Amino acid sequence: MSEEHETDHREASGRASGQSPRADGDAGGDRTAVRRDRFSGGPARSFLSSLADDERIFAADLAVDRAHVVMLVEQDIVEADTAGEILTALDDIEDAGHGALPDGEDVHEAIESAVIDRVGQSGGKMHTARSRNDEVAACIRYRLRADVLELVETLVGARERLLAVAREQTETVMPGYTHLQPAQPTTVAHWLLSYEQALQRDTARLLDAYVRINRNPLGAAAFAGTPFDVDRERTAELLGFDSVAENSMDASAARDFLVETTSAVAGLATTLSQLAEDVIVMASKGHVELDDDYASTSSIMPQKKNPDTLELVRGRTSDATAGLSGLLTNLTGQPRAYNRDLQRAGRHAWDAIDSVTESVAVAAGAVATADWPAERLEAAATGGFATATGVADLLAMAGVPFRTAHEVVAEVAADLDASQDAPDYAALSAVAEDVLDDPLSAYVDREAVEAALDPTESVAMRDSRGGPAPEAVADQLAATADALASHSERHEAARTGVSDAATRLRTEVEVYV
Ligand code: ARG
Repeated sequence: MSEEHETDHREASGRASGQSPRADGDAGGDRTAVRRDRFSGGPARSFLSSLADDERIFAADLAVDRAHVVMLVEQDIVEADTAGEILTALDDIEDAGHGALPDGEDVHEAIESAVIDRVGQSGGKMHTARSRNDEVAACIRYRLRADVLELVETLVGARERLLAVAREQTETVMPGYTHLQPAQPTTVAHWLLSYEQALQRDTARLLDAYVRINRNPLGAAAFAGTPFDVDRERTAELLGFDSVAENSMDASAARDFLVETTSAVAGLATTLSQLAEDVIVMASKGHVELDDDYASTSSIMPQKKNPDTLELVRGRTSDATAGLSGLLTNLTGQPRAYNRDLQRAGRHAWDAIDSVTESVAVAAGAVATADWPAERLEAAATGGFATATGVADLLAMAGVPFRTAHEVVAEVAADLDASQDAPDYAALSAVAEDVLDDPLSAYVDREAVEAALDPTESVAMRDSRGGPAPEAVADQLAATADALASHSERHEAARTGVSDAATRLRTEVEVYV
């Protein structure tokens, strides 16, 4: 409430004196001190303050301050000398670091106080034509986009590592599961590419979210715009925002860019948890051997090698889902245009993105350094009569209705004893003759049946688009490389946009300091 009063007061005094709304001239009186006194004490002081949390947006706030001041001077709202003093003070404040800031309700107020401490009362002109509401929204967007870019970069690197493993393992047959029961043979490459496809969509969701993060809320002021002739496109340009968050009330209030990002992060974490779980199950069966760097031992059981890294990847999913849930709960029912609840929104996104960014790298590292024991995997792919569907398909390809073929093979499967992985030709032939009233050889020859019972042949036969046969996987590998290159390009373009803007802003600042 106090902030609104103060803003009103400043604007009202400009109008009352019959001036156009410029902040030039002597503001008179020690309003900042009044403001500081107003927030100076009380049992809720530290409860109200976000200064410690705001370390995350310290650099962002300095950039936002600089861009705003450069725009103010370009628009003749603040004089060049004053702007120079403020910008010099901001450099000094940056050098001193977040820890050197004076006490304050938040980083915005603390930096403003630090500027005034250095420059004197004219430092108070920095906050002309804005509010902490548009300021904090700009800071969160500015910082979040850097975090999203880091996550995307990590993700692209991780996907490249998974792709390299897939390229090497196109012939490595392994059992595929449904309901965690042996289902059909596949390959390590095909299995990994299934995760690559999911990670591709997870990456795309983050890149799409980036577009809506990277909009400029500055110039919205508290929510109702400003009588000053601000140039919102110019601050967007100086901060590397691709466009302006148009409606000033929405610009202050909106945090759905946080929801969208955290939701994408939670989806990504869920994908990683599934990959982690697969590898944990494989490790438990001896179908993969993790590198020592990604395993833990037991403090009591000397023989143990545990997939703890992957269990933590799985466990960290809760950081992301908790973040999403916390964020949605924070935002639910908040009326327009700004409420202090919002001060607690960002942390949910930061927690989620930090935690999951680390998970991405660890999950990829664990998979990329693991050993895939081909012989053991192939033997396992024979287990549980996992080639059964292939045998039924063979009969169906010879003209037996698939449902009948399924019945033949199901009956053979039911007759298998516990020690048998798969039936032999004779067993199959006997049942087939019974059900089909014709000898099996009337439909398929022995060689074809034996091939279908072989997991490697079984995989090779499933060469439909997207399937596990090595030539079908080769197409998927090529498409994956293309998708990776395109995501990498989008990431690079965004990075360049951000770093060009930083250079531009510095160049403009140098004009005045
Ligand atoms: N620390 C506040 C936040 O993070 C800044 C905005 C304060 N605005 C206000 N009207 N009290 O949301």
